[in-house]
Amino acid sequence: MRPIQTIACALSLFLCGCSAGSAFREVEIEEPYGRKVDSVLSLMTLEEKIGQLNQYTGNGQATGPVIDDTTKIAQIEKGLVGSMLNIRGAERTRRLQEHAMKSRLRIPLLFGLDVIHGMQTVFPVPLAEASSFDLDLMRRTAAGAAREAAAQGVHWTFAPMVDISRDARWGRVVEGAGEDPWYGSLVARARVEGFQGRSLADVTTVMACAKHFAAYGACIAGKDYNTTDLSLLTLHDTYLPPFRAAVESGVGSVMNGFNDLNGIPATGNAYLQRTLLKGEWGFDGLTVSDWGSIGEMVPHGYAADLRDAARAAITAGCDVDMESRAYVSRLRGLVADGEVAEACIDDAVRRILLKKFQLGLFDDPFRYCDPEREARTVLCDSLRSLAREAAVRSIVLLKNDGETLPLDRFTGTVALIGALADSRIDMRGIWASDGAVEEVVTVRKGLEARYGRAKVLYAEGYDLETNRLHLAPALAAARRADVVVVAVGERYFQSGEARSKADIAIPRQHEELVRALKGCGKRVITLLMGGRPMIFDEAAAHSDAVLLTWWLGTEAGNAIADVLSGEYNPSGKLPMTFPAHVGQIPIYYNYKSTGRPESKAGGYTCSYQDIDFEPAYPFGFGLSYTTFEIGTPTLEKRVWRLDEPVTVRVTVKNTGHRTGRETVQLYIRDHVGSVTRPVRELRGFRQVLLRPGEQTEVAFTLGAAELGFWNADLRYVVEPGVFSVMCGPDSKNVKTAEFELR
Ligand code: NOJ
Repeated sequence: MRPIQTIACALSLFLCGCSAGSAFREVEIEEPYGRKVDSVLSLMTLEEKIGQLNQYTGNGQATGPVIDDTTKIAQIEKGLVGSMLNIRGAERTRRLQEHAMKSRLRIPLLFGLDVIHGMQTVFPVPLAEASSFDLDLMRRTAAGAAREAAAQGVHWTFAPMVDISRDARWGRVVEGAGEDPWYGSLVARARVEGFQGRSLADVTTVMACAKHFAAYGACIAGKDYNTTDLSLLTLHDTYLPPFRAAVESGVGSVMNGFNDLNGIPATGNAYLQRTLLKGEWGFDGLTVSDWGSIGEMVPHGYAADLRDAARAAITAGCDVDMESRAYVSRLRGLVADGEVAEACIDDAVRRILLKKFQLGLFDDPFRYCDPEREARTVLCDSLRSLAREAAVRSIVLLKNDGETLPLDRFTGTVALIGALADSRIDMRGIWASDGAVEEVVTVRKGLEARYGRAKVLYAEGYDLETNRLHLAPALAAARRADVVVVAVGERYFQSGEARSKADIAIPRQHEELVRALKGCGKRVITLLMGGRPMIFDEAAAHSDAVLLTWWLGTEAGNAIADVLSGEYNPSGKLPMTFPAHVGQIPIYYNYKSTGRPESKAGGYTCSYQDIDFEPAYPFGFGLSYTTFEIGTPTLEKRVWRLDEPVTVRVTVKNTGHRTGRETVQLYIRDHVGSVTRPVRELRGFRQVLLRPGEQTEVAFTLGAAELGFWNADLRYVVEPGVFSVMCGPDSKNVKTAEFELR
């Protein structure tokens, strides 16, 4: 990793900015595109250039105020619109592109969409999929989503969301990979590689967008859009690594966060966009505001009016204006008055044109508008089977007393209780409005297909809308059945954008239902659905087994049946800590020690007087139908040179009776640093599939990328000293060895 600029340097760049006459680093575009981009640019009027920076919505899901505008088509024909969001469909995109072809320079439109976890075929929500700890799978689902979206005329997805979050109250945790910056970076890389493939020119791929730059997930009190206030050290150590990884993977675009970061809204933040992203990191892609986030700098109290906001955003390096209409209405005047240099606009336009060239749109603006490819691709068998694979891999087994699960060779009857178990839209999850809801397999359908209709006694248990309990039919079904499966948790719209919660407990009625069902004396298996860590202690206490099934998408019901029946032995691991109490939030495994470390004994220690400090389920946790024994890590020597990769080995054995997949996790602790370091940090994981009794050894190599950190001068360093290396099946249950770097 290249060390980044010092704060002083960053500040000087921020101060000189990109106002008229000041210098900034222009994007360098390599051949074969450099000359083409410049030749198009040389033909453009200022008005046409500003048009390229202007993005309007179509009539899809609006995540901000929509200005109803009947002049959009006329503006497209005048070259005043560069891109659109919320447009999909081979025919519809063709029609709009035809309008763009009537403009003077025939510059094609770019169509963007939030393809978050699939298009019509829906994969598990991103947080769920992160539970798979399978990077190749995440690469493949992103590629699958890209294939389907591109066949529907989409060029650009506003994904992946790579925000780190340590606060389960924030509804958008559902869109990311959880709390860990190191794992989050690997997932970011995999998803970018999946969406973009080897080349943007490939008509089955789409341009990705790493969002929301930066630290949007650090919103105070977990309230969406809220202020973030964090040290530059934490910014670099915790929140930036996944963005950096996305940029290193060649991500084509980056979206600004809605948040204010240390006093400057991200959209107007030159340190983020010019110093880091386009400067130090050498990013040659485009930046896009979030919906209306340029205009929102006015209520933030950072810009006096829309004109001032347009000046601040373009100066700071925000290239595309999504639905603020600030650039299209104000940039001309700002240039005329000498407040914005035309060179600054040129740089933004060059970045946008480059992507249009790379996507092949100048060669053929209609290359993504092929109805036959669309019909062949949408909901095709290969995407559906990938959705099922991803769904089984995303399920996490949280409890399994007395080997309640699996229900293999089961010939009895199942009482399936809970309206969530029979609701397609809830299985599909948030941010999937293009997902074909009628294609979604519910748990009820999945179990009926597995065990036969007559063997599944369904009762809704509670009203889906109000949660009012319908206990009598549920208990009657439970009494008639051999085993009870009950679905509880969140509805699909209860996690996601603008879906913050002060209380992350599941509905009280759901807890009551599980308790009442347990009272029937049958084994109770709880399916926990939702898009964030939840608190469900009573339900867990009254269940013999708990499966965290998140929102799994199109194949949810089949995947859940696969896991309940033992067809698939669950292997998911939690990518976020599940708190025991909402008052523990923010809670995360990689916290720092204090001078008075937490202690069960209480006293003057970093603990609570009214609740325990331990989470309900730690990061990395997840059981299997078999058991594994992970040994103590071994190293061939104690002392290693600072520049030498450290090799760690550990054995893992399947000590149970079923074949299963374990994720062996490796954590480190750097005991003494020039800045304090977390008590443990994930720095490696390996998945192994073992038959009963089978044992294997896995090896990890720890180099600078694993052993270093950002120091007080914001330099990435590896420091000498003693490290612990810890291996285990989760972040808590580990065995430790030590080594020293000299
Ligand atoms: C607002 C969201 O924050 C962002 O993630 C999304 O891409 C845009 N709206 C466009 O829908």
